[in-house]
Amino acid sequence: MSSFSHGPFLWYATRAAGLVTLVLLTASMALGILNAGRFRTRRWPRFLVQGLHRNLSLLALAFLALHIGTTVIDTYVSIGLPDALIPFLSPYKRFWLGLGALASDLMIVLAVTSVTRLHLGHRAWRLIHWAGYLCWPVAVMHGLGTGTDHGRAWMVGLTLGCVAAVAGAAAYRAARLLPARRLAR
Ligand code: HEM
Repeated sequence: MSSFSHGPFLWYATRAAGLVTLVLLTASMALGILNAGRFRTRRWPRFLVQGLHRNLSLLALAFLALHIGTTVIDTYVSIGLPDALIPFLSPYKRFWLGLGALASDLMIVLAVTSVTRLHLGHRAWRLIHWAGYLCWPVAVMHGLGTGTDHGRAWMVGLTLGCVAAVAGAAAYRAARLLPARRLAR
């Protein structure tokens, strides 16, 4: 067994990649909600919001792959690829790790159905895309429950920042769309 696979490097890498994934997922989620709320300014036209939403989602997937890869390679605790893909399979921190696996599965479904959106049809794609509202809070709970850094002030601050970003975007969307719906009645 090499010191690479059981030394602290992979542990730090897992934590860093998990944090970056969470931040990217949050940014993508907030932009997705803003886009659905028709957000645009002169500096931020809709195509930019939409493009960023898409690209940040792909980047989040890349960091998720790194997060899972370093977890699986790290031999300090035995977590295999099936544990990362099948929710609540791993005996290690079953519930919190299971939430991570669930969030990853949802991220993969969201990405695959977005890439195949033209074949799927807009209605079906939109219905499936609502899973984002489940994926993000589940990922936040996984980070808080599994992570070494969950009690640290900066981690609490980062998580609160993520929650504020998504709540702010949701509030914008509600404020923008509710009056329009009332007028349409
Ligand atoms: C959307 C999916 C996921 C996100 C956003 C995510 C994010 C995070 C975050 C933010 C942390 C806390 C890091 C820290 O405390 O510094 C974490 C910890 C962890 N995650 Fe994930 N994760 C996801 C999926 C997964 C999956 C599928 C696995 C299974 C292989 C996994 C394995 C772990 C492990 C083992 C830790 C604990 C690392 C430690 O010792 O502190 N994660 N994750």
